[in-house]
Amino acid sequence: MELIKDVDSIRKLFPALDQKVNNKSLVYFDNGATAQKPLSVIELTDKMNSGVNGNIHRAVHELSARTTELYEGAREDIRKFINAKEREEIIFTPGTTASINLVANSFCQEFLKRGDAVIVTEAEHHSNIVPWQMACERIGAELRVLPVDNNGEWMMEKLAGILDDKVKIISVAHISNVLGIVNPVKELINAAHKKGVPVMIDGAQGVVHCKVDVQDLDCDFYAFSGHKLYGPTGIGILYGKREFLDRMPPWLGGGDMVGTVSFKKTTYADLPLKFEAGTPNFIGAAALGEAVRFVRSIDGDFLKTHEDELVNYLTNSLSSINGVKVFGTSANKISLFSFTVEGVHPTDLAMLLDKMGVALRSGLMCSEPLMTKFGVTGMLRASLAMYNTVSESEYFIDSLKRALKMLS
Ligand code: ALA
Repeated sequence: MELIKDVDSIRKLFPALDQKVNNKSLVYFDNGATAQKPLSVIELTDKMNSGVNGNIHRAVHELSARTTELYEGAREDIRKFINAKEREEIIFTPGTTASINLVANSFCQEFLKRGDAVIVTEAEHHSNIVPWQMACERIGAELRVLPVDNNGEWMMEKLAGILDDKVKIISVAHISNVLGIVNPVKELINAAHKKGVPVMIDGAQGVVHCKVDVQDLDCDFYAFSGHKLYGPTGIGILYGKREFLDRMPPWLGGGDMVGTVSFKKTTYADLPLKFEAGTPNFIGAAALGEAVRFVRSIDGDFLKTHEDELVNYLTNSLSSINGVKVFGTSANKISLFSFTVEGVHPTDLAMLLDKMGVALRSGLMCSEPLMTKFGVTGMLRASLAMYNTVSESEYFIDSLKRALKMLS
């Protein structure tokens, strides 16, 4: 198959990009929150909602067989996409948050006891803090925090001081949703494994911008969401090594996750169904498989060169505007820029830019501890996807300058 190598061809596949918002051509720079969907994902979703619809794994009729095939086919495509060893290691969940909660509940029930500890970093999204905090509170364990420096980079030199025998799991973001820096996850995984400690990676941003190979990373768990990866909302993935998933108890009980059920004793299904209780979002799962096939249809070298170009342009342009402070600068950064402007409230700026057709995120970015560390109450964020262009970036920078003039 001929791979796609140019941004115009990519844009043609995304109907949402071709619209006016507030009477201006849309410049959609909030991809870190959710990405737009390509036609193939929209068409498969429509096709299933319009008729190829029967509950999976449960019936012998044709429609059930077809949706089951689409669901399990998606699992296999996702396995290949992140290079997991076995299909049983790919669990469908409602998203990254649900995947982390699954591990925080099930893993901690089996492996964490009073007095133990869990490590996260200071730069995590709330969804990679709160589930662990809840598990630690329930069990009587301690949540330890690896600090970040003034640029938002992990202070790896502090890891040894908190990584002792009490630590039972570490959970960190591949790429922070605020800073856009690709974190040294492999180095951290190596250090943790030397102490026999498993590592979970929050890959919500990482899987969109990096080629993920879970066997090469050797992470023990990797979580991501469909909707940031050009797929639907309400579906995501938990990858876990079989050696852990096999030993972890189910978290949610219900249909499809059982072996036999009696009032005396229920036995559980094997992986992956043990963790997929109830009717899953099978249309979302099938469409996520389609999203993964879409990403694989784009040339990897093109993606890298294109993103580097966007990163260079925005790094230089933002830093040349008076009063703008960008958080998280690095040679290893994705096209995601969070910043503040001296004397200007991020929400005011975001509202003005919206009127100019530019969609950005503003606020705490679900990362309040990181905001506290930087001493700010909010930021503005431009997060780009493979379909965004340098000319959109130029329009964004011009609009930002105009908005700042209006507010000064
Ligand atoms: N986690 C998403 C973001 O960073 C919602 O915007």
